[in-house]
Amino acid sequence: MVQLKAIPRNYFLFLGLLLLTGSITCNVLDNQIEDSVHRSSKFDFSHVHPSSTIYEQNIAAQNLVRRVIGEDAARTFNLTVDKTLTESEKDAFHLFKQGGNTVHIVGNSVTAAVSGFHYYLKHYLNCHISWDYDQLHLPDSYPDVDVYVKFPERFRLFQNMCTPSYSYVWWSWARWEREIDRWALNGFNLVYAGSGVEGVWTKVYRELGLSQTDIHDYFSGPAFLAWNRMGNVRGWGGPLSVAWHSGQSLLQRRILSRMRELSITPILPAFSGIVPNAFQRLYPNSKLSKLSRWCHFEDKYCCPLLLDPSDELFAKVGTKFQQEVIAQFGTNHMYSADTFNENVPEHGDEEYLANVSRSIYRVMSAVDSKAIWVLQGWMFVNEVLFWTEDRVKAFLTAVPQGKLLVLDLCAEELPSHDRLHSFYGQPYIWCMLHNYGATLGMHGSLPKVNEDVHQVRNTPDSMVGLGMVPEGIDQNYVVYDFMSDVFWSPDLLNLTSWISNYARRRYGPNVSANIVESWRLLGDTLYSYDHSLGRLHGLYKICARPSLKRAPETWYDIHLLFKAWGFMLDESHPVNSSNYNYDLVDITRQSLQVLFSEQFEILLAGFEVQNVTKFSAARDSMIQILNDLNEILGTEKKFLLGVWLNSAKSAASNVLESHIMEQNARNQITLWGPNGEIVDYANKQWSGVVSSFFLPRWSLFLDYLNTSLATNTSLDQTKYKTDVLNNVEKPFTYSLETYPDSPSGDSYQIAKKLYQFWIPKISASQDPTIRS
Ligand SMILES: *[C@@H]1O[C@H](CO)[C@@H](O)[C@H](O)[C@H]1NC(C)=O
Ligand SMILES: *[C@@H]1O[C@H](CO)[C@@H](O)[C@H](O)[C@H]1NC(C)=O
Ligand SMILES: *[C@@H]1O[C@H](CO)[C@@H](O)[C@H](O)[C@H]1NC(C)=O
Ligand SMILES: *[C@@H]1O[C@H](CO)[C@@H](O)[C@H](O)[C@H]1NC(C)=O
Ligand SMILES: *[C@@H]1O[C@H](CO)[C@@H](O)[C@H](O)[C@H]1NC(C)=O
Ligand SMILES: *[C@@H]1O[C@H](CO)[C@@H](O)[C@H](O)[C@H]1NC(C)=O
Ligand SMILES: *[C@@H]1O[C@H](CO)[C@@H](O)[C@H](O)[C@H]1NC(C)=O
Ligand SMILES: *[C@@H]1O[C@H](CO)[C@@H](O)[C@H](O)[C@H]1NC(C)=O
Repeated sequence: MVQLKAIPRNYFLFLGLLLLTGSITCNVLDNQIEDSVHRSSKFDFSHVHPSSTIYEQNIAAQNLVRRVIGEDAARTFNLTVDKTLTESEKDAFHLFKQGGNTVHIVGNSVTAAVSGFHYYLKHYLNCHISWDYDQLHLPDSYPDVDVYVKFPERFRLFQNMCTPSYSYVWWSWARWEREIDRWALNGFNLVYAGSGVEGVWTKVYRELGLSQTDIHDYFSGPAFLAWNRMGNVRGWGGPLSVAWHSGQSLLQRRILSRMRELSITPILPAFSGIVPNAFQRLYPNSKLSKLSRWCHFEDKYCCPLLLDPSDELFAKVGTKFQQEVIAQFGTNHMYSADTFNENVPEHGDEEYLANVSRSIYRVMSAVDSKAIWVLQGWMFVNEVLFWTEDRVKAFLTAVPQGKLLVLDLCAEELPSHDRLHSFYGQPYIWCMLHNYGATLGMHGSLPKVNEDVHQVRNTPDSMVGLGMVPEGIDQNYVVYDFMSDVFWSPDLLNLTSWISNYARRRYGPNVSANIVESWRLLGDTLYSYDHSLGRLHGLYKICARPSLKRAPETWYDIHLLFKAWGFMLDESHPVNSSNYNYDLVDITRQSLQVLFSEQFEILLAGFEVQNVTKFSAARDSMIQILNDLNEILGTEKKFLLGVWLNSAKSAASNVLESHIMEQNARNQITLWGPNGEIVDYANKQWSGVVSSFFLPRWSLFLDYLNTSLATNTSLDQTKYKTDVLNNVEKPFTYSLETYPDSPSGDSYQIAKKLYQFWIPKISASQDPTIRS
């Protein structure tokens, strides 16, 4: 998801007023829904729970333990599912060991039992499981335990509609399997599952008379499907092959089967009203309107059609599609449909908006009488000026109470539940968004998440769950690990002790005091983001297209970051820890990112007063930082362009398709669109991207500035933009150059070298442009 439209100057003021009035009227609402303190009891979600026999559930839980810690170690754990553990629908587990050799874990669902296992691993055995590397040093003897945990909410939701395209797009089953296990371990019991939906649509479209060409023109390539599904783009990066469809369909079946085995409820796609442009030709008498243009995409790649909800074709298409989804994938009655995600509705008429939501739900519930519609509430934040209270009320309340589940999508920063009166009584999930475009850049708001969740939990409203909805994964691991403890903890977590324990779990029990201190500093600074800079889109100076624009990028004392970097480089660091290696590279990357922005400030200062000495020194530093960054990133597998490109290529079934996949992969992380429509939105600070993309475009920009300085003329930004687009950026997206997919160089030695080189330079610099 993106936010590109220019934000009106008064946006935040306006939003502030809305929030203010929202919280005043909320008191009235509190009285109205006083009886909802026992929130979930107000809504019935019992039917969405995947269930198999208790025998199968016990096996599923035990199998997961084997996958995570291996056959031998798994014998110590006895996981069982017992629905009578609690009377409510909410998950609970009981962990028990008093003497003996077995840790008993009883959960009222597979997810509950498995998250109990994870709880013990984390908080009793000091282990750590992440998106990639695990720290699983198991002790010889296991501590006794007797803990009963009841999750305060009914749901824990994972995933953003964008995550499948930014992060999962090239995954094979092995990677999926690991991720689904991670969901269960962290207690997630509600997750989007949209893989393979284009195959279902293909069948439906053909039955509705579309030609193969019509369909090829409509679907975007694999790396852009998320935005095709939401009606933002069409055709870009496509077409999709038969092999792709069958591969994805097979994957989807395996994903669903495993999710259900682990009692994770999948959210399947339903009809939102958005249809391919060929409908205009095939159904000339239907009421169709063009969706609004998204991010300057040209006609060829944008603006699919929206079928008017009052048109009889709406029900026909929707019914056919949903029946086919259920026929192919089964159902657990949860469906997603997002008609207006970054599409401003054509009419602001409340009756029209109510008609749209009523029609979507009517079709859904006609096919599946138990249907519950899951709606992203992003539009209420992103198009806040359009979505007035009256309009939102009309849209949300046209669906029966309890049948629409709203995601308050960016609740840690721009919550909507206050302004929108707890979504007018519809159940909602408080979601932490945190990441845009799977970009790197260390940040997080641990104290705020801690406190805000605590507050909303103690406010009687219609909140029924917590969620994590990052657009991309594989970044800022600490933020997600923290939130997963917030899930079960009814009290505020103690951040001081939590963050030290995090360091111990992540690197193993013998982590040095200095490294723990490094994490304490990070927790106090980068991970205590106060939202003063608004949403962090990862567009830092070093990785965004060069320009003279200045914007603050840090909300913390950068010297504390450098201090944390120094502590992380402790001589007695863990030697064989992949997690340590990753974090060391990441903090070095972060430091170089910040140093680069500082050097840019010096460069501009020199440029403005035409001080060539100053300008040239800063320019040389910037070029060197880019080279240094490429080198350090090259030492860690998670930061390699080659890994991303090779996995894209391996998702292809022939050479031509391999080129399409590679272009998808390259375009998404750079130009994002044929002409840089949302350039750098999903940028990656990876080795290979730095050397072949960031570095050449900065070199070109610095040449422009140098010439400008030498000839005493102003910089021609327009000329630079055309030049960089045609001579650096586009060629990168079409190139077939290969990059290593395994790391080279010693992370520790290189990080230390860079620290020793750069830190004295900074400390020695008396330049006032360097803030302290
Ligand atoms: C595992 O736990 C269940 C229920 O708590 C118990 O009935 C069973 O005997 C246990 N099995 C082992 C091998 O300890
Ligand atoms: C809403 O739907 C009703 C019934 O289909 C229709 O009569 C009415 O014109 C629609 N209103 C708007 C504003 O679209
Ligand atoms: C949090 O933990 C730290 C370190 O263990 C401790 O010193 C502090 O008193 C705790 N704070 C609270 C509020 O419990
Ligand atoms: C941690 O240190 C202790 C004491 O030096 C040692 O016995 C133990 O093996 C170490 N554990 C790990 C996982 O390195
Ligand atoms: C690191 O791992 C290697 C290979 O597994 C092993 O040979 C070496 O002893 C380990 N080093 C330490 C300090 O544990
Ligand atoms: C130009 O910048 C350099 C380095 O910052 C400084 O030493 C020098 O005094 C500056 N020259 C002038 C004329 O200001
Ligand atoms: C910068 O401009 C000066 C003056 O035209 C020129 O001598 C120098 O070579 C240029 N430097 C670079 C790196 O292009
Ligand atoms: C650069 O041009 C400006 C006017 O555009 C002039 O005032 C200034 O003196 C010139 N500087 C040099 C070093 O020629």
